[in-house]
Amino acid sequence: MQEPIIQAKKLHKSYFTGKTEVPVINNLDLTLYKGDFTVIMGSSGSGKSTLLYLLSGLEITTSGEIWLEDKPVHSMDEKLITLLRREYIGFVFQDFNLVPNLTFLENILIPAYLVKNDRKALRNRAKELMKKVEILELADRLPSEVSGGQQQRCSMARAVINNPRVVMADEPTGNLNSSSSQAVLDILTDLYKEGQSIVMVTHDIRSACRGNRIIFLKDGQIEDDLRFDTSLNLEEKEVQLLQWLAKKDW
Ligand SMILES: Nc1ncnc2c1ncn2[C@@H]1O[C@H](COP(=O)(O)OP(=O)(O)OP(=O)(O)O)[C@@H](O)[C@H]1O
Ligand SMILES: [Mg+2]
Repeated sequence: MQEPIIQAKKLHKSYFTGKTEVPVINNLDLTLYKGDFTVIMGSSGSGKSTLLYLLSGLEITTSGEIWLEDKPVHSMDEKLITLLRREYIGFVFQDFNLVPNLTFLENILIPAYLVKNDRKALRNRAKELMKKVEILELADRLPSEVSGGQQQRCSMARAVINNPRVVMADEPTGNLNSSSSQAVLDILTDLYKEGQSIVMVTHDIRSACRGNRIIFLKDGQIEDDLRFDTSLNLEEKEVQLLQWLAKKDW
């Protein structure tokens, strides 16, 4: 039996444009499990980013429940959610979201300093992570002085510095060229193999095959849910995913 790590129950999210209510997530039930690399797919506007933001506590639900393990996010105030998020969630954005006037090392350390005090140990951990994602020599550079791929590797180190329960990534390779994309996906795959729970939104079929579970979103609801057999290699997963997606509004 797999252990649930995040649960959404009867989740609703609407945005308002003027007085018009635009429902984006509709009565959605979802359980994410520990150790899975879950991929969220679906056409543009289907609510993928919104769902990821709700699951991470970056957006507030309109109604319904979100549980991070045994913590009811839906009944917490924003301050508490922020504290919880720092510990539970590492978030990787499509456009990196690094602080422009801080160095790579400082960017990685910000979330760590907010949670712990031992600065020397944290600097050592940050440097270890930079080594792992191959940006150690860029520690003193500003985001504007490096490539997009290097910025995304920095944001991945930042996402994992607090050992989050879940790493969430919204189209993490959306702004990258093919080789940088592979590097970012390789890092996510390594994290997954080390036991890290991951949730990633992507449009890209090959990227999606790095995961072991695919959720297909349509009009703010889960239309289908696919779990790859563990014996499949990347090419075999790709064949299966293509067949699966061919039956959908994709
Ligand atoms: N802040 C907002 N205010 C109003 N409407 C919004 C807001 N954010 C998203 N929406 C609307 O909610 C719907 C879902 O948006 P969302 O960004 O979650 O889709 P998505 O599946 O991530 O799309 P994409 O693949 O293009 O990134 C869209 O119709 C979008 O216009
Ligand atoms: Mg999106």
